[in-house]
Amino acid sequence: MYQKIGNCIIRNWQIQDAPSLAKYANNRKIRLNLRDAFPQPYSLRDAEVFISRVIEADPETIFAIASHSEAIGSIGLLLGKDVHRFTAEMGYWLAEPYWGKGIMTYAVQFLTTWAFEELRLHRISAEPYANNTASHRVLEKAGFIREGVLRSSAFKDGKIIDHAPLDVHIGSIAIKRFIEEKQPFLTLHGHVHETVRLTGAWEEKIGDTLLFAGAHDGPELPLVRFSTDDMASASRQLISID
Ligand SMILES: CC(C)(COP(=O)(O)OP(=O)(O)OC[C@H]1O[C@@H](n2cnc3c(N)ncnc32)[C@H](O)[C@@H]1OP(=O)(O)O)[C@@H](O)C(=O)NCCC(=O)NCCS
Repeated sequence: MYQKIGNCIIRNWQIQDAPSLAKYANNRKIRLNLRDAFPQPYSLRDAEVFISRVIEADPETIFAIASHSEAIGSIGLLLGKDVHRFTAEMGYWLAEPYWGKGIMTYAVQFLTTWAFEELRLHRISAEPYANNTASHRVLEKAGFIREGVLRSSAFKDGKIIDHAPLDVHIGSIAIKRFIEEKQPFLTLHGHVHETVRLTGAWEEKIGDTLLFAGAHDGPELPLVRFSTDDMASASRQLISID
């Protein structure tokens, strides 16, 4: 793997990355958002063990995010087993000096497409904690959709906390690509908007295309009214059917 993403690259881990991995991973702000298996303090030995394990895997599914001089983060997929073998869970972190520059947004978008195409996966999930706003934004911008909230599903840093998992299906990616390429006037569907209940957003735009949510996960019937002469006044109403 060697892929340019903005000013960075995604590439295979190398054992020579151990010092930069140990330097950047040794950060409580990063560990607080990951599982407890992520060591703290993060030693050079921890970095060497991690890299050895990653590069021995076949196929390799965990990669370094790197600047021109050193590794600055990690992104990867934990492949599902048995009946889950066409699925994977995505995980990632970035060195703190590089936060907020759009790097992980690029990385997640790239690895998602790569995984659907190269690993032939059908579903990718991610399990950020409910309070990890940055990670949720990264995933949503890559087409992931919130599945809900798993209340009290983790014990982290002495507290019981919630997960808010997201996932993306190969079908959602295909629909998003179709919209991006063909730019239809309007689409009415459930895929992009399954989360209306969670986000409150039932209309969205991709380029020139308007997307209206024609799906709802409660007992009511959603009614979207619009006139092609005045799309700005479109409205959505939930009709009770009892
Ligand atoms: C989560 C993380 C990977 C984000 O990487 P990043 O490269 O800084 O993210 P981006 O720059 O691509 O930003 C993505 C979005 O998150 C937003 N964002 C970034 N930091 C934020 C913060 N602290 N609070 C709220 N939103 C934030 C950005 O504004 C952007 O949204 P926008 O395009 O709508 O403005 C990084 O903060 C990190 O490594 N955190 C610790 C480890 C972690 O949380 N891993 C994920 C576990 S699920």
